[in-house]
Amino acid sequence: MVLLRPLDPDRDAQDYYEWNLDPEMHVWTGNAPFDSVDAAREELVRFAQMQDVTMWAIEDRQTHRMVGRFFVCIENRDGRLIAGEGNRIARACWRKGHNREARRLIFDYVFNALGADAIESECWTANVNSRLSLLAHGFRLVGESTEYNSNHQQPMPKSHFLLERGDWKRR
Ligand SMILES: CC(C)(COP(=O)(O)OP(=O)(O)OC[C@H]1O[C@@H](n2cnc3c(N)ncnc32)[C@H](O)[C@@H]1OP(=O)(O)O)[C@@H](O)C(=O)NCCC(=O)NCCS
Repeated sequence: MVLLRPLDPDRDAQDYYEWNLDPEMHVWTGNAPFDSVDAAREELVRFAQMQDVTMWAIEDRQTHRMVGRFFVCIENRDGRLIAGEGNRIARACWRKGHNREARRLIFDYVFNALGADAIESECWTANVNSRLSLLAHGFRLVGESTEYNSNHQQPMPKSHFLLERGDWKRR
């Protein structure tokens, strides 16, 4: 269903611009639609140049369009390799399997090739899509905090999740 590949700012800018026009994309991300295709391209260039974060374009194999992006970063924390992750899928593709497949491929890579011990993630508790998606993919809720949400201009609960290597392997 999906092809994971490096971001290609020139090729992806138009798709990225279009699906980010949808206000629903930004309710919980704190971003806003881009003013222009050039602004979308500039963000992709910036992401592609990041040193400590690896970001993939999620391409739909049928349409060959870029329908999402997925990042991973990894750090050694007291001898344990801990990865962080984050993703965004065009609304037309929500719950169609793109995110599920992208996460499976990327997490296999993170655990098997990079040797991570665990992957952590977080989301605003009210972000139902993200919270249920993380739980569906095997993450455990390990904590909650309250942080200021600049989009909603008030303190809001945030959920923190962990996926241990063993839990992923057992799935
Ligand atoms: C968060 C996001 C990446 C999740 O991707 P998705 O394609 O919507 O969801 P997934 O395919 O990963 O969902 C996996 C499972 O989680 C559960 N789930 C997810 N959203 C759900 C919802 N709104 N209601 C009920 N169950 C839900 C279901 O069990 C689902 O499996 P199913 O579709 O086979 O029933 C996507 O909704 C998105 O891009 N949202 C906007 C940006 C964003 O909030 N990013 C995260 C910032 S922390």
